[in-house]
Amino acid sequence: MEATQNYLQKEKDRFLEELFELLRMPSISADPNYKDQVIATAEMVKERMEEAGLENLALFETTGYPVVYGDKLVDSSLPTILVYGHYDVQPAEPLDLWDSPAFEPEIRDGKIYARGACDDKGQMYMHVKAVEAMIKCDELPCNVKFMIEGEEEVGSGGLSGFVKENHDLLAADIILVSDTSIISKDVPSITVGLRGLAYMEVEVTGPDHDLHSGVYGGAVANPINVLSQMINKLMDDKGKITIDGFYDDVEIVSEADREKINLRPLDIEGYKSRLGIKDVNGEDGYTTIERTSIRPTLDVNGIWGGYIGEGAKTVLPSQAFAKISMRLVPHQSSEKISALFEDYFKKIAPEYVTVKVTAHHGGEPLVVPSDSIGYRAAEAAMEKTFGIKPIPVRSGGSIPIISLFKQELGIDSILMGFGFDTDLIHSPNEHYGLWNFYKGIETIPYFYSYFAEGHSK
Ligand code: BES
Ligand code: MN
Ligand code: MN
Repeated sequence: MEATQNYLQKEKDRFLEELFELLRMPSISADPNYKDQVIATAEMVKERMEEAGLENLALFETTGYPVVYGDKLVDSSLPTILVYGHYDVQPAEPLDLWDSPAFEPEIRDGKIYARGACDDKGQMYMHVKAVEAMIKCDELPCNVKFMIEGEEEVGSGGLSGFVKENHDLLAADIILVSDTSIISKDVPSITVGLRGLAYMEVEVTGPDHDLHSGVYGGAVANPINVLSQMINKLMDDKGKITIDGFYDDVEIVSEADREKINLRPLDIEGYKSRLGIKDVNGEDGYTTIERTSIRPTLDVNGIWGGYIGEGAKTVLPSQAFAKISMRLVPHQSSEKISALFEDYFKKIAPEYVTVKVTAHHGGEPLVVPSDSIGYRAAEAAMEKTFGIKPIPVRSGGSIPIISLFKQELGIDSILMGFGFDTDLIHSPNEHYGLWNFYKGIETIPYFYSYFAEGHSK
């Protein structure tokens, strides 16, 4: 990989310029107003992949945004790596909290600031550049396929259908993904678990029109009051979720494994000050690391209703709404939890209101083996470039499509991300370190060579 590494070193600045061009595209999948820009981003990714030396490029139409595909098949006797990433990003709101505009990338203290810098354009692009180097230097030791989607941030609806219909096209020995984080420069890590997700929207209706809160207040239930009381019944004061059956399938992690999980460093004072909180809070009996990895959660993501404009309006509103999501752990099922939520929410609704519950996209929790050829290749690659052996960690985030890959294609994924949990993904001032970007590009080729080596044994 010497020629490859020299090439990477030499072309560094160009890589960054190209990434900037990608970051200028507002590829916000959640907002239909950006439809043209999301599609233009797919086209740009395809062009960049072609310039990198990939072949058979295609934009596959789906029920949603296109999947960008490209491959380089060097020899059928070599193993095949399927690279997954996403070119869509989260909305940038609230815009006024950004120190520089979300879609005008800028470097400040060694970090690239832009929406998508870390999640996932910066991380996805590391793969395009690493593969470019291996192709141009004639050092590609594996076959490689790329599958880059545009709907990860909205549930991967299009890609799900695409995967189901394209088993042969996507045949591979391993899926390689950089869409997660490492603990720090000195504590590299590989993600071996992701939480699942059940996402609900609820609607509580009282009177069939807004009322004067003086004339009717006290005699007619206020849906916002009722909704607040109902939300309060979803969790007790020990941080336990009170939905009937919620914990039935939760994996019980052994004391020994819990001890191991807690070995990773976490500076709790730094954590608190960075988040501006006076103390951490969560389920009794579990550490912060456990609460964000092996335990399920419930969070209200949004709540609205009534009057929220200037001044005061004395109204007893007709309706109240909330979006409520639950992070799931092995062996909970998204569908089952959504059903349990709906039953419970309806059960606790007082008879004087009407409740509607709908489920949004969800996803299954995941654990990946840490003794596979793929894991060992990632471990060796990171040890090579960090000078420190990485540790396996379970992450609190979700990438629902990864469990579908396993289910549909029978292929395991290696989650070798290079972001930090402090990169403010989904928040204002998202950034990605130049160090992380280049470290990722440097590490990926070693994964290929160790993976090929491990496979030939
Ligand atoms: N890349 C993230 C997931 C992630 C972030 C995993 C950090 C591990 C560490 C992904 O883009 C994401 O944001 N996923 C969503 C789920 C999706 C269904 C909207 C999430 O976790 O909220
Ligand atoms: Mn992501
Ligand atoms: Mn994301």
